[in-house]
Amino acid sequence: MGLKNYNPTHTKAWQKLTDHFSEINNVHLKHLFGNDKNRKEKFSISVGDFEFDFSKNRITEQTLAYLIDLSNEVDLKSAIDAYFSGEKINVTEQRAVLHTALRNQSKENIVVDGVNILPEISETLAKMESFSEKVISGNWKGYTNKKITDIVNIGIGGSDLGPDMVVEALAYYKNHLNTHFVSNIDGDHTQEILKKLNPETTLFIIVSKTFTTQETLTNATTIKKWFLQTAKESDISKHFVAVSTNLTAVQNFGISKNNIFPMWDWVGGRFSLWSAVGLSINLAIGFKNFKNLLVGAYEMDMHFKNTPFTENAPVISSLIGIWYTNFFNTETEVILPYTQYLTKLAPYLQQAIMESNGKSVDRNGHKIDYQTGNIIWGSTGTNAQHAFMQLLHQGTKLIPADFIGFKESLCGNEEHHAKLMANFYAQTQALAEGKTIEEAHLDLKIQGNFENLENLLPYKVFDGNKPSTTILIKKLTPKNLGCLIAYYEHKIFVQGIIWNIYSYDQFGVELGKELAQKIYKKV
Ligand code: F6P
Repeated sequence: MGLKNYNPTHTKAWQKLTDHFSEINNVHLKHLFGNDKNRKEKFSISVGDFEFDFSKNRITEQTLAYLIDLSNEVDLKSAIDAYFSGEKINVTEQRAVLHTALRNQSKENIVVDGVNILPEISETLAKMESFSEKVISGNWKGYTNKKITDIVNIGIGGSDLGPDMVVEALAYYKNHLNTHFVSNIDGDHTQEILKKLNPETTLFIIVSKTFTTQETLTNATTIKKWFLQTAKESDISKHFVAVSTNLTAVQNFGISKNNIFPMWDWVGGRFSLWSAVGLSINLAIGFKNFKNLLVGAYEMDMHFKNTPFTENAPVISSLIGIWYTNFFNTETEVILPYTQYLTKLAPYLQQAIMESNGKSVDRNGHKIDYQTGNIIWGSTGTNAQHAFMQLLHQGTKLIPADFIGFKESLCGNEEHHAKLMANFYAQTQALAEGKTIEEAHLDLKIQGNFENLENLLPYKVFDGNKPSTTILIKKLTPKNLGCLIAYYEHKIFVQGIIWNIYSYDQFGVELGKELAQKIYKKV
């Protein structure tokens, strides 16, 4: 069947949205809330432990109706079915896009090139489970018969960012193993990590889908040399495992067949943390927690696949994103989790979103003349408030924000959590409502600031009308984290479909790699 081809800007809905934009552009969120006491409920969607509140976005029911018309006009539903059923929607690489199969909890076959892929997924999960149990329990011994204490993931991009982000996010659930991530080809980075390690008690996981990536192979080679300063070649099997699709290259590197965990070309690197690429996650938090991560993602998958668009959180959020990008001409989106555990969420999403939708040629092979993928950035609240929030509140740019908060903290310090969440809500309210000149005037008077009042007044005004989405989650658990990541994955998919681009290749990273090979002079 394949994905439909069109120019989204030529659809009827796009034209309606263009007209609608001129009507709504100057309407203030305060006015929208003032006119509708049920606005929050009207624009909120619950999924499991999640409440998505879209009400502080510059939308009306009419906006959403036109946006949903757009998704129907481009036949989003058929595209979703093609995505889940394993059609080769990564056309430029002739691959299916099946990270959803990795967390599939149903028994229904998923077929790629005539083969049901579920058995090999289950086999790999079973291998991950038994391997991680051996290492965590101390039954897996190093070359001097000592237990493993440290795990090092050697990989870059999708073979690093997802596992690193999740291990950090789920630190609360972590066992005694220390985890490290070596990614950059910067030898100082590698050296600083090696300094902390004892070769006798360290397990290295080389993660590379292709096993050709310069950074990963250089780091793995340096680390192997370091290991062999004290150990023998025959000890490698006790300390090195690999995750890859390229079995020959892994074996040539010296890793035995038993120590290879498979990857498949129907999983994109940036969507692969659910596969054996997530072995470091599995080792850090145990298989049971890893499994719950998959279950959470599956719940979001089912919500996305089966819920009408009007109630579908990833669809609504994608459409609102398109509304800002293509009508308000915004260029960036900020991700603001109010928990320090999610400090690596923004860098992870940068790759997931920008490598997927940073494209300027459509599915017809034509250069496009409308905006696609956004610049993603962010940090944790409240740190962000003391760093860059000034620009969101009073700068000249419109930056839609995702505020991600949790009802419960993990360690249970209620006073801290109450203060954290007060800040969370305060920011979204301040952005939406702002402060008028009259309100600012009154405040200055109350403060007794009469002398300077007129001079200061313009600087004390907040325009407001700055959009945000609030994602309120019961608690940061492996399951809820899985659900959150899957939400963003599906948002990427929907936006790519509507922009008529191919989201699952990444040819844009190649030119720089080729030139670096040419520029590099062997030392
Ligand atoms: O350079 C980009 C990229 O191809 C990413 O898409 C991928 O996640 C990363 O490199 C690492 O690739 P590999 O897992 O094959 O080493």
